[in-house]
Amino acid sequence: MSNRVFNFNPGPSTLPLDVLKRAQNELLDFKGTGMSILEISHRSPEYDEVHNSAIANAKALMGLDDSYKILFVGGGASSQFAHIPINFLKKGETAAYVDTGTWSTKAIKEAGLFGNVHLAGSSKDDSYTFIPSADDLNLPSNTAYLHITTNNTIKGTQYYYIPETGEIPLIADMSSDILSKQLDFSKFSMIYAGAQKNLGPSGVTMIAIRASMLDKINDDVPTMFDYRTHASKNSLFNTPPVFPIYIVKLVFDWIQEQGGLAAVEEVNRKKKDTVYGLIDQYPDFFRGPVKTESRSWMNVALRLPSEELEQKTDC
Ligand SMILES: Cc1ncc(COP(=O)(O)O)c(C=O)c1O
Repeated sequence: MSNRVFNFNPGPSTLPLDVLKRAQNELLDFKGTGMSILEISHRSPEYDEVHNSAIANAKALMGLDDSYKILFVGGGASSQFAHIPINFLKKGETAAYVDTGTWSTKAIKEAGLFGNVHLAGSSKDDSYTFIPSADDLNLPSNTAYLHITTNNTIKGTQYYYIPETGEIPLIADMSSDILSKQLDFSKFSMIYAGAQKNLGPSGVTMIAIRASMLDKINDDVPTMFDYRTHASKNSLFNTPPVFPIYIVKLVFDWIQEQGGLAAVEEVNRKKKDTVYGLIDQYPDFFRGPVKTESRSWMNVALRLPSEELEQKTDC
């Protein structure tokens, strides 16, 4: 389609054209139901197939076995900033967070409403231009969990390592880099991601949670905030965001067709090498504020020589 533009927005971000066309083709009559997927029941066999295939595909792409549950919930990744401490942190207990800028700062603020926050690492004093190294993380043993933001959408930094936390559950906000390259997802006790960057449209958040985490959940968690509610009902306790989950399923199919995460990683490697290559080649014009060892593959932060030039729109 010639009028499609290059959309560099981090989120909602561009979706594969094949996915949009497939959704368009199926829109008015989904699988011979005479209804669109926007109208059919979330308890129908036709939707059931979509739902369960999205879950199976997510596990396959992440290489996760049945010791993990995949959940699809509403409320955006931002709701998880509060749901995590509501489920896993009690008053008087401490959770550890690494502060790597905007989104982790928001997660830290929410955790502070429910318990104590220990800063296991921070790059705040250096304007969040790097990810604290594994050696610099300081993790007390009595910590309920460690929370990291694997890719910092606004600051343009990304983890190149997975913190070793031993018995302490590792929880990650992967909203802006999930499925962008191969990763040992089984190192994490919980992963969450708003769909609108790497998985599909806005409206659904995907969670991969180790089933054993469900045993650690606090008492008296409101039903809809309690991960056990969604895990025990296969994310069908209430009406799920059917259309976003359907598009996520199509995106998963598309990723598989491309050759899985190995193929996606290769494309992303080429893209980031090209853009960072240009930044490095023209240091008098482009300024890359992020330290090389923390550069995000997903969100390239770049500045121009002056703020005045950055404001110009007519060149
Ligand atoms: C890393 C990260 N976490 C969380 C969020 C918030 O996501 P949502 O808008 O789904 O609440 C964003 C949004 O840009 C993000 O980039």
